[in-house]
Amino acid sequence: MTLRLGDIAPDFEQDSTEGTIQFHSYLGDSWGVLFSHPKDFTPVCTTELGEVAKLKGEFDKRNVKVIGLSVDPIDDHHAWKGDIEETQGTALNFPLLADSDKKVSDLYDMVHPNANDTLTVRSVFIIDNNKKVRLIITYPASTGRNFDEILRVIDSLQLTDGYKVATPVNWKEGDDVIIVPALSNEEAEKLFPNGWDEQKPYLRVTKQPNR
Ligand code: BEZ
Repeated sequence: MTLRLGDIAPDFEQDSTEGTIQFHSYLGDSWGVLFSHPKDFTPVCTTELGEVAKLKGEFDKRNVKVIGLSVDPIDDHHAWKGDIEETQGTALNFPLLADSDKKVSDLYDMVHPNANDTLTVRSVFIIDNNKKVRLIITYPASTGRNFDEILRVIDSLQLTDGYKVATPVNWKEGDDVIIVPALSNEEAEKLFPNGWDEQKPYLRVTKQPNR
């Protein structure tokens, strides 16, 4: 199934290192990040899982539940957890789906046969609190992801859902933002009483509104 931005993230039930996960009810009112790993006991994945465990507090702050996935069986996942803690210095503190029947991988189109016909690629989905898919990124197996970038996108999505702004290139929390072009200057005056820097009629830069 090909998923697109704005689609409802498919629901599923699958075994995980924290027991059976019913995806939608597990998410509840939270946002979610679902990300896949090609295989257990692989070096890049080991570093990624350690990093996400270290960032768990950052995801919690943003009301985001993280869920990893690998197509190996649950016993392998439990054995791998020890290696992750030993080598990365942080224990796995979020569920890792054991998708050996590829139920979830197929639902989320995580196996790209022309890259590898059995393993998943490194997919990342950001899902909002209405269960809508808000970001899809696909990385090759040989490239570890940058989870600071995932947090940055969550910050942008949560900000731009609440205010009539968009975030410019390389934006990060606290930087100036752009007033959406659909807003007239008359409307913008009400919402941004401190004004803006009008570099072009369509490029109006203002302070981040919620700070
Ligand atoms: C890794 O996670 O290290 C990895 C997995 C599949 C192919 C290459 C690297």
